[in-house]
Parts: sequence; structure tokens; C-alpha cells
Amino acid sequence: MKKVLLPAVALLIMAGCSNEGGSNKPGPKDAVVVVESTGKRLFTGNCIQCHALQQDRTGPALVGVKARWGADTAKLIAFVHNSQKVIAADGPDSYSGKLFDKWYKTSMPSFTGLSDDDIRQIIDYVDKGQD
Ligand code: HEC
Repeated sequence: MKKVLLPAVALLIMAGCSNEGGSNKPGPKDAVVVVESTGKRLFTGNCIQCHALQQDRTGPALVGVKARWGADTAKLIAFVHNSQKVIAADGPDSYSGKLFDKWYKTSMPSFTGLSDDDIRQIIDYVDKGQD
């Protein structure tokens, strides 16, 4: 692993030196690269039109969602895959049944194209309620 990294490190050092003698003006090399988490990227691509982290929108604010589902991540994943199936299986008096009622019976679209791991990463991201 070290062997693979070394040339990359050498390149970085060389790149860092190439500005030698130049001005101190900040250039593109000084830009801060913000690496988005997969969870945030998938949330932004699929969920943001209805959900925010801290405020209710078309759907509920998602901060702290794990605790509301008794930390049952498997069920949360099933819900995002097909919310109506979970609501039907749980019944009207369950948490998901009552939530659906509270949100004026607005159904969430099914996200069958997202893998379990994709959804787990979204849930981890939104649960924290911040970047
Ligand atoms: C078209 C709007 C819409 C989109 C897009 C959407 N949701 Fe929802 N979501 C809702 C609504 C409405 C509810 C509440 C009603 C219900 O339970 O069906 C909800 C409920 C939820 C809940 C339960 C919240 C709680 O407080 O227990 C989770 C978790 C959730 N959504 C995750 C997601 C994720 C993850 C995505 C993106 C992959 C997503 N949603 C995309 C509308 C949407």
C-alpha cells in the first residue's frame, strides 16, 4: 500500500513546488475541496424535494429519525424501498400508520433503485441533522 502511495505523494510535493518564485496570490491549488458524503449526495439527488433535515416540508424533518423507528434500520430501509408496503403490514395504529395519517396520507415514492447500503448511508446522514 505504501509503495502505491509514494508516487502520488511525490507528485503532490512537485506540484506544490511548481509555484516557487511566483506570487502569493491564491490559485486553484489553494481551493478547499469539500468531499460530500455518499449519504448527502444521495439525499440531495433523491429526497431533498420533499425532506429537509431540520424542518418539515412535504415530508417530515429527518433529524433523529432512527430513534423514532426504535433504531430499526432494516425497517427504515424497507420503508424507503416501499413505504406503502410497510404501512400496510404494520397497520393503522403503528408508528408508520400514524405518520402516514399525520401527513395527510401523502405517500412517499418508492425508491427501488437504491440499494440497502445507499439507504443506510442516507439515513446515517439525515439522522445527524447536519453536514
Ligand atoms: C414526493 C415527496 C417525497 C420524497 C421525494 C421522499 N419522501 Fe420521505 N416522506 C414523504 C412523506 C409525505 C412522508 C410521511 C408520510 C409517509 O410516511 O408516507 C415521508 C416519510 C419519510 C420517512 C419517515 C420519517 C419519520 O419521521 O419517521 C423517512 C425515513 C423518509 N421519508 C425518507 C426518505 C428518503 C431517504 C428519501 C429519498 C431517498 C425520501 N424520503 C424521499 C415524502 C417524500
